[in-house]
Amino acid sequence: MKTYRIAVIPGDGIGKEVVPAAIEVLNKAAALDGRFQFEWTTFPWGCDYYIETGKMMPDDGIELLKQYDQIFLGAVGMPELVPDHISLWGLLIKIRREMQQSINIRPAKLLQGLPSPLRQPHHFDFIVVRENSEGEYADIGGRLHSGQEEVAIQNAVFTRKGTERAIRYAFELAQSRRQHITSATKSNGITHSMPFWDEVFAQIGKEYPAIAQTSNHIDALAAFLVMKPESFDVIVASNLFGDILTDLGGAIMGSIGIAPAANLNIEGQYPSMFEPVHGSAPDIAGQGIANPIGQIWTGKMMIDFLGYPEVGTQILNAIETAFAQGIKTPDLGGTATLREVTDAVLHELT
Ligand SMILES: NC(=O)c1ccc[n+]([C@@H]2O[C@H](COP(=O)([O-])OP(=O)(O)OC[C@H]3O[C@@H](n4cnc5c(N)ncnc54)[C@H](O)[C@@H]3O)[C@@H](O)[C@H]2O)c1
Repeated sequence: MKTYRIAVIPGDGIGKEVVPAAIEVLNKAAALDGRFQFEWTTFPWGCDYYIETGKMMPDDGIELLKQYDQIFLGAVGMPELVPDHISLWGLLIKIRREMQQSINIRPAKLLQGLPSPLRQPHHFDFIVVRENSEGEYADIGGRLHSGQEEVAIQNAVFTRKGTERAIRYAFELAQSRRQHITSATKSNGITHSMPFWDEVFAQIGKEYPAIAQTSNHIDALAAFLVMKPESFDVIVASNLFGDILTDLGGAIMGSIGIAPAANLNIEGQYPSMFEPVHGSAPDIAGQGIANPIGQIWTGKMMIDFLGYPEVGTQILNAIETAFAQGIKTPDLGGTATLREVTDAVLHELT
């Protein structure tokens, strides 16, 4: 039997609640399948650790993580105690960058048994491929002067390597799905990086003549995701555009609490990191009412990535069956606790 060594970082707030719940489900799915098992090692890094030590993770944290097959993360952030730019850049973004997790993927799907806030949702099932290492989040720039004279400069960086990598990954994904790709652009307003993005999209597109290819400006695309989300299959976007579109994806599914995500090192040189879209939700932390589905679905993506997509499908089926019975946490309009939702998914996983 294959054993996968997983580094677990529950992080802060509800991360500490939803991660153990998801691990229960993943362990059961693996045991039922019988071909693989998990060996989990938990690292107590996050804002509590920062308050104790002045660091979000130890200096050798990245080296420690490199020894694992994958990373399973909850959420990071306690904004009342630690400023967000310290907590996110000191742990989450540090791992994404240093492990070269250059692709972020986030699916959105109309789940059975879960009403979407859209009035007449048709069956939608799309996945956003977000460039995860550069673009608008390049951390290049600075501030000069103060008061009325103050200047802030933020540069966006689009390398050919990073742009091609994201777009090619998205085409490959579209090839394994419904053969349709949409590129998020804004070349009518952003006059250097976005025409470059469009050129790379068109160049790589020539290698995939069987795939239907569309380019939409990001503002129109955001509207289309509300008006006709069923018309999308794979959407490829820069770092900022992808970030915004994927929160929208979570919203039209019903709650950000169910939206999953993966940060992939597609070269396989370092571990990838699987973390839900939501944050640490300080407003509901410690109450036992956080929705564990985002974390569980994220675990399903990790199992898919490890090469067991049929096991992943069983987990998603169990989630949908639990929803169909009306077992939902308050963010979805239900009254169930995290424990009850987790038990329902475990029960349906057979
Ligand atoms: N990947 C991450 O670690 C990540 C992502 C986003 C935000 N954050 C951090 O999390 C902290 C809080 O940020 P925020 O409030 O903007 O975003 P958030 O996602 O934590 O919460 C937004 C809203 O959604 C609700 N919510 C989120 N997840 C839920 C779940 N699983 N079940 C039920 N309800 C859920 C919250 O209660 C809140 O009302 C900040 O420090 C922020 O920087 C971290």
